[in-house]
Amino acid sequence: MWKGRFLQQPSQLLQEYTESVSYDWRLYKQDIEGSLAHAEALTVAGILTSEELSLIKKGLFEIREEIDRGTFSFQKHLEDVHMNIEAELTRRIGPTGAKLHTARSRNDQVALDLRLYLREAIVKFSRLVAGLQRSLVGLAFRYPEVCIPGYTHLQRAQPILLAHHLLAYVEMFARDIGRLKDCAARMDELPLGSGAIAGSTIVLDREQMARQLGFSRVTQNSMDAVSDRDFACELLAALAILGMHLSRLSEDIILWVSEEFGFLELSDRHTTGSSLMPQKKNPDIAELTRGKTGRLYGNLFSLLTTLKGLPMTYNRDLQEDKEAVFDSLDTAELAVSVFTEMLEAASVREDRAAEAVSDPLLLATDLADYLVLKGMPFRQAHEVVGRIVAEAERLRILLNQMSLEQLRSISPIFEADVSSVFDLRKAMESRRAPGAPAPSNLEQRLKYWEEILEKDAQAHLH
Ligand code: ARG
Repeated sequence: MWKGRFLQQPSQLLQEYTESVSYDWRLYKQDIEGSLAHAEALTVAGILTSEELSLIKKGLFEIREEIDRGTFSFQKHLEDVHMNIEAELTRRIGPTGAKLHTARSRNDQVALDLRLYLREAIVKFSRLVAGLQRSLVGLAFRYPEVCIPGYTHLQRAQPILLAHHLLAYVEMFARDIGRLKDCAARMDELPLGSGAIAGSTIVLDREQMARQLGFSRVTQNSMDAVSDRDFACELLAALAILGMHLSRLSEDIILWVSEEFGFLELSDRHTTGSSLMPQKKNPDIAELTRGKTGRLYGNLFSLLTTLKGLPMTYNRDLQEDKEAVFDSLDTAELAVSVFTEMLEAASVREDRAAEAVSDPLLLATDLADYLVLKGMPFRQAHEVVGRIVAEAERLRILLNQMSLEQLRSISPIFEADVSSVFDLRKAMESRRAPGAPAPSNLEQRLKYWEEILEKDAQAHLH
């Protein structure tokens, strides 16, 4: 493509080192879509005749079909997807093909292709995340009344509804989808027309190209447009944060399926065995998801580091953006898909949950609240209950086995109604403030998510 200036052939090693077509071939649809819009603009500008435009279109359609079918052979010595397609077009249609690159550089071309690719990938991926949310809501719906201990510091804290725990993740994933949408909105501008760095003396109708390619606006600085990849960083950051959430859910699942917790059972289809220990049933999906979060973080850091200190404008370093982005998208897509399937087939061990949540220590805070409602300042109530907990421990009895006399010997405020504090159902119903896990709140929030996610699914069907 640049043979005019060179007297020697490129070295074999240089070709191997600089090629990107082995992975950027994935941009072929976007590359062709961009070329079609560019060719239309060249025609309006009088650079191409309408016959030449038809020839280019026909050639590009054919090439696209062959790549779709897998019969197109990409050549590494042609570096990247852009040159492969252009070279093949010219081979097929002759000199007209050689006009396509007028007023365009691979610098604005790749900035366009990546934006087009990511825009579509974000829509597809957000749908998968909504599916994951649906699987969490579905699990909550199947066990709306199950309570388990909630933990802080991984120590039993207070009773919660399992559904409340699951919906916490639904909220997190909703924010993840929000971040993906924000990032898509910011990358919604057309870089085409920026050329290599300084636009072109041949002026194309950028607004029209933007409309044709479905962008809301055009970039306003050609140097910025060809040299920044902040939009890719944003996507990698959104995926890294989502991975962080998913790794926490993974950890909860790994704990819950252990015999020590025993709250959850995964289906045989979503667990693996041990080649040595016949009894084992391992939560490998959750472990791998926890592990793959490292790649999602790594890809973000890899791109940020690549971009750090790059002088304006395009530098070949930028070619390193694509593998990070493809790998994070592939990793996150598969993780979210397999997780969804695993949760759809999971079941709750209600007996184990009931046993664990029957621990009356989980209601020690409620006991302090009882004293507060009888007029005692909270700090004092906290201390009184602390003494009762220590006393029960010393006597080797459960907190709710302390007799009224024993309680009154620590604080005379206790009355016979204290026994109702240990009624789990009442305890849950009392937590009525918005966001707290009272069953009535949960019911509302479950309905809310069911409606939102149903609407979302409908919207994607049409
Ligand atoms: N393959 C290149 C990339 O991914 C395309 C742009 C190359 N531009 C150039 N002037 N070498 O960034």
